[in-house]
Amino acid sequence: MIKGKFPIDKFKGIKTPFYYYDLSLLRHTLDILKAETDKYGFTEHYAVKANANPTILKTIASYGFGADCVSGGEIKAALEAGFPANRIVFAGVGKADWEIELGLDNDIFCFNVESLAELNVINEFAAAKHKVATIEIRVNPDIDAHTHSKITTGLQENKFGINLGQLDNIIETVNKLKNINFIGLHFHIGSQITDMTVFKDLCLRVNEIQYKLLQKGIRLQNLNFGGGLGVDYHHPNHYSMPDFTNYFAVFNKLIEKSENQGIHFELGRAVVAQCGSLISKVLYIKEGETKKFAILDAGMTDLIRPAMYDAYHRTENLTSDLEIDTYDVVGPICESSDIFGKDIELNKTQRGDLIVFRTAGAYGEVMASQYNLRTLAKSYFSDTL
Ligand code: LLP
Repeated sequence: MIKGKFPIDKFKGIKTPFYYYDLSLLRHTLDILKAETDKYGFTEHYAVKANANPTILKTIASYGFGADCVSGGEIKAALEAGFPANRIVFAGVGKADWEIELGLDNDIFCFNVESLAELNVINEFAAAKHKVATIEIRVNPDIDAHTHSKITTGLQENKFGINLGQLDNIIETVNKLKNINFIGLHFHIGSQITDMTVFKDLCLRVNEIQYKLLQKGIRLQNLNFGGGLGVDYHHPNHYSMPDFTNYFAVFNKLIEKSENQGIHFELGRAVVAQCGSLISKVLYIKEGETKKFAILDAGMTDLIRPAMYDAYHRTENLTSDLEIDTYDVVGPICESSDIFGKDIELNKTQRGDLIVFRTAGAYGEVMASQYNLRTLAKSYFSDTL
């Protein structure tokens, strides 16, 4: 039996909860991403933080994209998956010494630097290794991403990047450092952004910044706009493809690009969100006084987004075609925030039914924990089931 896109018969005998990835959807997404970036000569560094599953990483690397890493662990995973070192960018406000050394030893493309203090340390380490570290400075462009407060980053003043007022000073310093090659600016204003006017505002702000720098004789070789393009969590079947076409068209149209300037992106969620699902089994239906609870074997340890950001993931019963009923869908973890959703409409649900959480390919498996000493959910792939 196939319900929607899911090969339910093949799920029989697999221990729940587990992640299921539709690799043909991932490849289709990557085909479109590649066509849209190639159209304008843009470069994508996939944000490994969104999903670092080795099979997913290898599939993305096989398209020739670069990787955006935020830890030494991610750099290692990216290299193992086949991302070339010279297409790896390394961001993060707190790069540890060994992580900087790892980046230098592998001659990664670029460090995205978030403070003056960090810049000096990278320069020291590079000098000790007789190397020159290529860097971009992450600037906080003060643009409101109109997204969840826990995933917005571009408004001043937060721990990410440096503020516009400090830019001149930092560029002056950077140019004096012998073991640093400064190539441009990096921006990332937030995540799950679906309103294109936010990206338009970003382009206009970056034009202003470039113009001011040019007047001082500073020409930027590279611009990196980070990630942030959102996906449709409510209609994963109808809108399984993020709006890559409009997104890149906005940058192509609005950015006042100088000759041979590199335009880079670090999309994560948009690349992997729709291809992944979390599959779980119903343990109990608890009939309360006013509500019914569907108690699952998956919890916030397997998919933390609902508990952490009140995020919505479309929820379906894969094994029931009965009439619709309403449930609070909850996990087994000893935390009152371990709730996937309240008043969720599902086909009438009973013990043993399979429940799917859609659009869980980004920030799902990778944010799992073993709280309550649970085992991590395994992953399965459409190609090999
Ligand atoms: N570049 C930088 C510097 C970032 O901080 C991020 C995400 C990205 C790129 C990729 O952004 P994306 O294209 O995926 O929006 N755990 C949260 C999302 C955190 C995003 C953190 N930074 C969630 O589950 O919604």
